[in-house]
Amino acid sequence: MLIKKKTGIEIPSSEITPKSLYLSRRQFMTAGTLLAAGGLLAACAPGQSAPAGEESAAAAPGPGTVSAETDELGDPLNSYEDITTYNNYYEFNTTKDGPAKLAKNFPTSPWQVEVSGLVNKPKTYAMEDLLKFEQEERIYRLRCVEAWSMVIPWLGFPLAKILNEVEPTAEATFVRFEAVEDPKNMPGQNNPMFPWPYVEGLRLDEAMNDLAILSTGLYGETLTPQNGAPIRLVTPWKYGFKSIKAIVKIELVDYMPTSLWMESAPREYGFYSNVNPNVNHPRWSQATERRIGELGRRETLMFNGYEEQVAHMYPDPDYDTHL
Ligand code: MTE
Repeated sequence: MLIKKKTGIEIPSSEITPKSLYLSRRQFMTAGTLLAAGGLLAACAPGQSAPAGEESAAAAPGPGTVSAETDELGDPLNSYEDITTYNNYYEFNTTKDGPAKLAKNFPTSPWQVEVSGLVNKPKTYAMEDLLKFEQEERIYRLRCVEAWSMVIPWLGFPLAKILNEVEPTAEATFVRFEAVEDPKNMPGQNNPMFPWPYVEGLRLDEAMNDLAILSTGLYGETLTPQNGAPIRLVTPWKYGFKSIKAIVKIELVDYMPTSLWMESAPREYGFYSNVNPNVNHPRWSQATERRIGELGRRETLMFNGYEEQVAHMYPDPDYDTHL
């Protein structure tokens, strides 16, 4: 079975695409587009030491089977252990190893996602409905703003699927995402330094780009709470903070949404946040990155290596000046 129901969300197995089927329908390696204020106020605050066992990147993957052991550039997958223990999730706390412990019992079911705003057919999706969308595996690099990265085999579906279903009106130009607000179960939300809930945004054409997915799993398993269960965005050509976790609301709007990071640190975070090795964060270089599991640093690629698929959306070079 493709999805293990760790979250308690029940879907008849007949409605889940068998893994062999979805992989043959859409192999990311052949699809080209696929597969691939001080520390406290930093979107991806420079972390403490790397997780235990980081030398084992790709050596100890698992638990689920994946379609390939590398991304399309030939870089090995990070281990499941790395991906699920080295996280940024400020609703829990601002350390890298804290979310895995603090989010362990975070309730992710029942869950629904409201899709509304400038659309003809607003709809509130139960998580069960979202899981019925064909789940694809895509191996993407997630590159955090302070210069660490991982290669992760996500499971999910293009964001465009639900946007097309709700039919954006002609006035809709941006998409605003809102994460859950649950201070009882998310201790970090009692931190008044941040304007909760976590908010992110995309321009509508960015949101419709095939690379933008809503992820519900990784490594063939249901998403763990610390990675954003039950549903999170993944935009691999942008810095990691754009990939908002635990989404409850998606709103089509006619203005550029203000993200939590734009509001918290406007001189450090812009709206676009496309990965660009030529534009430094005001407090650190963005030219190189440390792949979790590797000792040295590697050069950061323009648009995180997805230039071919996304550069056409940014003809105005000014976009490069946004972090
Ligand atoms: N989403 C929410 N709701 N809250 C967060 O703190 N952190 C972001 C992003 N999404 C964050 C979030 C940052 S800074 C990064 S780098 C990625 O999640 C990390 O995702 P990962 O833990 O799955 O690697």
